[in-house]
Amino acid sequence: MSRLPNRRIVLGVAGGIAAYKAVDLVRRLRDREFEVRVVMTAAAREFVTPLTFQAVSSNPVHCDLLDEQAEAGMGHIELARWADLVLVAPATANVIARLAHGLADDLLATLCLATTAPIVLAPAMNRQMWQAGATRANVLALLDRGVSMLGPGEGDQACGEVGPGRMLEPEEIAARIAARFRGGALEGVEVLITAGPTREALDPVRYLTNHSTGKMGYATAAAAAAAGARVSLVSGPTALPAPPGVERIDVTSAEEMYAEVMVRAARCDVFIAAAAVADHRPARFAEQKIKKGDTPAALDLVRTPDIVAGVAAMDGGPFTVGFAAETESVQAHARDKLERKGLDMVAANHVGLPDRGFASERNALSVLWRDGIREFALAPKAELARDLIQLVAERYRAEHPA
Ligand code: PMT
Repeated sequence: MSRLPNRRIVLGVAGGIAAYKAVDLVRRLRDREFEVRVVMTAAAREFVTPLTFQAVSSNPVHCDLLDEQAEAGMGHIELARWADLVLVAPATANVIARLAHGLADDLLATLCLATTAPIVLAPAMNRQMWQAGATRANVLALLDRGVSMLGPGEGDQACGEVGPGRMLEPEEIAARIAARFRGGALEGVEVLITAGPTREALDPVRYLTNHSTGKMGYATAAAAAAAGARVSLVSGPTALPAPPGVERIDVTSAEEMYAEVMVRAARCDVFIAAAAVADHRPARFAEQKIKKGDTPAALDLVRTPDIVAGVAAMDGGPFTVGFAAETESVQAHARDKLERKGLDMVAANHVGLPDRGFASERNALSVLWRDGIREFALAPKAELARDLIQLVAERYRAEHPA
């Protein structure tokens, strides 16, 4: 078993039946040499006593925001600074809602607002509560802010129902937390990503473009950075802020994107083309706004450079991952793109359905490589991007053993 000294975890325990499993979770984290301090909500104390957590963690348990004695020992701000990671297990629907809305109405919620450490939630609740629109919106808001979710799992529930909402087993949570501390899957890897649409100008006020918002590409950039990569993001026009730690280069047209990618591609290890690059641009750019009477009956178009194919064709170029946006026969068209463009991998998505693809908060991917395929089911783009990056890291490492 791995030993990870000097790693400090604040474990927030909320009030659900799975609170009893958090006792075992403390033991399993300590087995991996994490130091654990437990923060309990008032509801959690209805299920398990603070004394139990004190005994298993060998540390005082923190319960109240306004407890003078506890604040004198280690105040909530000190505790927020002390943590290398805040883990909330079980994370109930109530705690998820309070965190999503930034409430500071008890010690755990306040600590989560005050910390700069990563926050990981292990949800646990009735399946209907997990699937409720309000909970889905709260989870998406937290994922967008960089909070991670471990689970929930599916199966029998304490309420007698069966479905998603079970807290993951303590051993799995502890193992996945330990993996985070071991260093990211792309530690030391240089990653270049394209995202967003391009705009192909017809005159100073009109252009050809598509529906891309950049969400998928930005989520991929954030996931790569979180996995330890140095990330550059060549982005078409979007309304999104650059993910933390990512260098963003703004471009407008396919030709500008091609130029910015080509100067960087030779020194990157992995290239991921998530941008929806226009395949054509108007053959002529009118310097002045085209007047109504002069509007051409038909537009002459010329091909734009194929950026991902250009990178894939480079001598000694990076491990190259394309996307494929398809409206039918997704896998067959994606495999054709993999071969025709000389890619190492292709992440194919259906862009003809209302709940995924362009502009949606969610997506689903079929990821193909020469002799393999992996399916990722419909999920928030942030979650999907993390899975995609893990797979890219796996395939990249398989082809470039250290
Ligand atoms: O941005 P969102 O709103 O979140 O939407 C996400 C998305 C649907 C845009 C994204 O998931 C996606 O599918 N991106 C690729 C879109 C696309 O252009 O697909 P394509 O099948 O037309 O192109 C195949 C590949 O060639 C892509 O990697 C594309 O970046 C690349 N390409 C295409 C044309 C070109 N001139 N140069 C390129 O590099």
